[in-house]
Amino acid sequence: MARILITSAIPYINGIKHLGNLVGSQLPADLFARYMRARGHEVMFICATDEHGTPAELAAAKAGKPVEAYCAEMHDVQKDLAAGFRLSFDHFGRSSSARNHRLTQHFAGKLAENGLIDEVLEKQVFSIDDNRFLPDRYITGTCPNCGNTSARGDQCEECTKQLDPTDLINPRSSISGSTNLEVRETKHLFLRQRSLRDKLEAWIDSKTDWPILTTSIAKKWLNDGEGLQDRGITRDLYWGIPVKKGNAPWPGMEGKVFYVWFDAPIEYIAGTAEWADANGLDDAAWERWWRTDKGASDVTYYQFMGKDNVPFHTLSFPATILGSGEPWKMVDYLKSFNYLNYDGGQFSTSQGRGVFMDQALSILPADYWRWWLLSHAPESSDSEFTWENFQSSVNKDLADVLGNLVSRVTKFATSKFGTTIPAGGTFGPQETALIADLGARIRDYETLMEQMEVRKAAAELRAIWVIGNEYLQSAAPWSVVKTDPEQAQAQIRLALNLIRVYAILSQPFIPDAAAAMMTAMGSTDWTWPADISEAMRALPAGAAFSVPENLFRKITDEERADWQQKFAGVRT
Ligand code: 2FM
Ligand code: ZN
Repeated sequence: MARILITSAIPYINGIKHLGNLVGSQLPADLFARYMRARGHEVMFICATDEHGTPAELAAAKAGKPVEAYCAEMHDVQKDLAAGFRLSFDHFGRSSSARNHRLTQHFAGKLAENGLIDEVLEKQVFSIDDNRFLPDRYITGTCPNCGNTSARGDQCEECTKQLDPTDLINPRSSISGSTNLEVRETKHLFLRQRSLRDKLEAWIDSKTDWPILTTSIAKKWLNDGEGLQDRGITRDLYWGIPVKKGNAPWPGMEGKVFYVWFDAPIEYIAGTAEWADANGLDDAAWERWWRTDKGASDVTYYQFMGKDNVPFHTLSFPATILGSGEPWKMVDYLKSFNYLNYDGGQFSTSQGRGVFMDQALSILPADYWRWWLLSHAPESSDSEFTWENFQSSVNKDLADVLGNLVSRVTKFATSKFGTTIPAGGTFGPQETALIADLGARIRDYETLMEQMEVRKAAAELRAIWVIGNEYLQSAAPWSVVKTDPEQAQAQIRLALNLIRVYAILSQPFIPDAAAAMMTAMGSTDWTWPADISEAMRALPAGAAFSVPENLFRKITDEERADWQQKFAGVRT
């Protein structure tokens, strides 16, 4: 049994996430966590809300609420939606937690102790009309790198370049739109990333099995222009983690907070500590996941995120960890995703274009979305959600292939042999061939799941469903029963066992349908079919089974047209 630590990029607190956000981190991380648990490994799966920084302050102001109350409320909303999508976090924390405050201040203190922090009097954009500094998203303008006219002060979403507010061309305040801006001096802390460059490069170079998308982005920022830049890790903001050196005050930094991207990844660790606290466990319980001197050296750590997050996870966060000089667990494998587009354009939170998590669940159960999103995950390139494609995947893969098999087999079995697993006959050459084929395909499926090849794993799972249908088609128990009822019983016994095996294999993708299938087979045995021949004989003859409720319904053309129109934009 291995020990597997999994973190998903933590979603910003400001508003409900769309399906593009979901498929870029939380959902594939959940797939992997479920698979690893199903294989009997010890898994720790952590996510949280990313609550600091300008997005939170701006969204709270827009909602007319104090930022603390806004964050508490939105955390609960996101937590409920995550549960609705069956995201199986061990803990869904908050980057504003007391644990993260302490740990973030601890890291800053260590970095200072190790001579890696510069106190810099720097020039920041000040808005005269708003009477405040405009860090990060408080300022909007044209990206000097790609010309995008709505680049934010911290990063351009178009070209992923990390920016400083003073880099923007034609800057304006995101609060008032005012261009009445001036540059003023203010003191900030800078992490001396440049002096960690060689260590970071050596660490990245040691990750020979990382996907090209991840490594190429990391290398690009490592070698971009003059190379890795020192990075400001504090801000003139009200909401955030107060700047302290460990427990001690930081003279000259009163009233300032850490930059959201400094504290957010530290929440992966703090979130695990929150998990321990929530379960009444001591520090050793979370430290064995994170401290290599306290048991974490046998942990394998996987991170999941969208491509825009890669620079922060391959450079900034590792710089914090390496710079601390302490034995923290670092990521072993970083799985990153491209973007999911929406029906001929982009998902847009600001324009309300696309399907958001709450809306998705209001029209169809989680499994329908999970299946489509994972089977079309934007891995090797951006991918696109279209309603036609969604309708066809649901109707074909889920309803026609899997749902139909389950309903056909259970209904036929009940009508001919009653509601217990029939005992007659023995498996013949056709059954043996199916079992062999299944065994080989399951091994392929395992390999793809272990490699986090999400789309390919979905395709393999679908192929596994298809061979079951093909078997039934050719074995035709509904004809055989007329001439050889014993043989038909053996065929149906096999098919019922197949449903249980499908439940186990499909559970990481479609957990609700899998649970319904397992319940219908009257079993609670989720043992992975490592030995397929044994697994196909697991249900004892004479045990009760039932016909499940229709597992998947089809999406009609009217619904598709209706939804297409409804989600074209603009939601506020
Ligand atoms: O892009 C985002 O949604 C960020 N909130 C991700 C943060 S991941 C991390 F560093 F914790
Ligand atoms: Zn740009």
